[in-house]
Amino acid sequence: MRQFEDIAASEEQFQLTTYKKMPIAAERGEGVWIYTSDGDKYLDLYGGHAVAGTGHCHPHVVNALRAQAGELLFYSNLVYSSARAHAAEKLVSIAPESLTKTFFCNSGTEANENAMRMARMATGREQIITFSGGFHGRTADAISATFLGKYRELGKPNVPGHLEAEFGDIESVRARADETVAAIMLEPIQSMGGVRMAKAEFYRDLRTLCDERGIVLIYDEVQTGVGRTGDWFFAGSDAGDRVVPDVVTLAKALGSGVPVGACLVTSAIASHIKENDLGTTFGGGMLAMAAVTATLEAIENDRMLENVNSVEAHLRQRIREVEQVVAVHGRGFLLGIEFSDKAQPFHQALLEQKIITGTSSNSKVLRLLPPLCLQKDHVDQFVDALCTC
Ligand SMILES: Cc1ncc(COP(=O)(O)O)c(C=O)c1O
Repeated sequence: MRQFEDIAASEEQFQLTTYKKMPIAAERGEGVWIYTSDGDKYLDLYGGHAVAGTGHCHPHVVNALRAQAGELLFYSNLVYSSARAHAAEKLVSIAPESLTKTFFCNSGTEANENAMRMARMATGREQIITFSGGFHGRTADAISATFLGKYRELGKPNVPGHLEAEFGDIESVRARADETVAAIMLEPIQSMGGVRMAKAEFYRDLRTLCDERGIVLIYDEVQTGVGRTGDWFFAGSDAGDRVVPDVVTLAKALGSGVPVGACLVTSAIASHIKENDLGTTFGGGMLAMAAVTATLEAIENDRMLENVNSVEAHLRQRIREVEQVVAVHGRGFLLGIEFSDKAQPFHQALLEQKIITGTSSNSKVLRLLPPLCLQKDHVDQFVDALCTC
């Protein structure tokens, strides 16, 4: 195997810069573990940006992908496919009852672009309300909907028709939600923004406002979806007062690492979509569809939702031992550990102890987005390590 220095030098030479990278090369994964080119083993509490929901290389997913790869890698939506039929049936079967149809695409940003487009088609209006601190992706419309740090600036010139409201403040939404507004879109738990959750009544008030004013409610569940919060979705869950939006967008953990995004929509929204209104070459391809079905089956078979809930409780209990922790935000395995001071030194010290965590736009918040198969002894390893930082 190539040495780390050699791999890193090659990437630096031949690729444009994206994120600040950790000084490791990930070569193999199994469950919650990442194995590096140097033969080290890291506990992964970040899941490669929340993607490894079923853990790394879950055998059920890997076997399904191997089988599908030997049958048909890809054909577009010009033909029917049993792999696609199966994935759509499975996804709709676990979704809140009113979300009856799916549109498959390739990423979170693409799912959000299409969600906003559908809202505009359904209402004949143009404006979209999103929230300060929310992140929705990097393509033109999604980045224009992202009122977080420098991101919106990066998308200049922005797509017109975007309004910013305060997360958790229904009056600020009400003031903007006039007859020109097609949709209100939110991350129900703002992840990059520092793992911020609103009071349950905020979600209920948004639903009521949308119903009163004919506005489409979109939940961007790219991070919160597919089991991460201990429910299949934030939509319909107790944490959000069982509110179900008109559209839910998904990506990240949906394909266990095979790129795939989706919009789940109500029949009312679906009734506005005609042939050729939506499209994508790769969306709904067979390999991605096999990944979706196997991912959802693996979560179900291994009772991962129950696991998330019990391991979260253990983490919340044990984290009290860490003096510098002042609060734990979020739900399930989307957690923000807030420190009395900067989180970055903890992120660094944990990495030195071979534990991968994430940061956020709140400098005091360390973000955990681990695989849904994380166990209590892994939490113990994390908390023991934090106590020595
Ligand atoms: C909440 C949310 N929405 C959308 C996106 C964009 O997803 P993608 O990077 O797959 O385009 C992200 C990515 O981090 C996200 O966290």
